Amino acid sequence: MPEVLLRLADVRINFGALKAVDGVSLQVAAGERVAVLGPNGAGKTTLFNAITGMLRVSSGSVVLDGKDITRSAPNQRALHGIARTFQITNLFFGLSVEQNLLLATRGLGKAKYSMWRSDLGSASEQEVVDSALERCHLKPKRDLTVKELAYGEQRQLELAMSLTSSPRLLLLDEPAAGLSPAERGVMANVIRGLPTTLALILIEHDIDLALGLVDRVVVMSQGAVLVEGKPDEIRRNAQVQEIYLGKPRRA
Ligand SMILES: Nc1ncnc2c1ncn2[C@@H]1O[C@H](COP(=O)(O)OP(=O)(O)OP(=O)(O)O)[C@@H](O)[C@H]1O
Ligand SMILES: [Mg+2]
Repeated sequence: MPEVLLRLADVRINFGALKAVDGVSLQVAAGERVAVLGPNGAGKTTLFNAITGMLRVSSGSVVLDGKDITRSAPNQRALHGIARTFQITNLFFGLSVEQNLLLATRGLGKAKYSMWRSDLGSASEQEVVDSALERCHLKPKRDLTVKELAYGEQRQLELAMSLTSSPRLLLLDEPAAGLSPAERGVMANVIRGLPTTLALILIEHDIDLALGLVDRVVVMSQGAVLVEGKPDEIRRNAQVQEIYLGKPRRA
């Protein structure tokens, strides 16, 4: 068995009387790729917030690589190897693709806030930026400003930015939301081509896209894990079809 990278034990997040995450236990191995599916409001993004530390859990524990990070701040968790992308893009639109990546790279190091230095990135920074550009199919776009990019390319850039911290666990919250079919294809290829040592948890409403990218699927409903299995098992599961797969995608 590969080593366990992330271990959630009975995680709960309550918003007043609402049990947004209602006792989720989940393990993700190093390099494993897991999809989290479930209808709107199932608690998927809230579960991500529990993993990244954006929200405090009401109870339960979050352990990364044997270390209990349940009470750690988001920046500490980032330093331990957790990265995420957001459902909403989070970029500097007036800066170039490369400048956005340099900013992301420097965000973690000593050179924080020194974006406006006249020199280009150091050799090691440049290496990180080049690798992220390559991985996310953005090399030809490096000198364009973000506002000159197509929406799909902006999402690719967001993913590229999350790679600059060399994470061990990457959380992708609906990376293909709002993309055209062609852009979804590119995004799927980008995700498929991520380092095999990087563990992924992918929230995605496009079932076919998600099931084609992962080793294992967790289906959530009303804050809890309804069923867990390999993509083929999930496709065949009657309960899943009833609560989720049979329903039309939201607009
Ligand atoms: N900060 C918050 N305060 C109060 N309620 C919240 C908050 N964040 C989420 N919720 C509620 O918690 C539940 C789970 O929300 P969450 O965003 O995790 O769902 P989701 O599975 O990501 O849905 P979607 O597929 O629409 O993104 C929903 O009922 C939502 O309205
Ligand atoms: Mg969500």
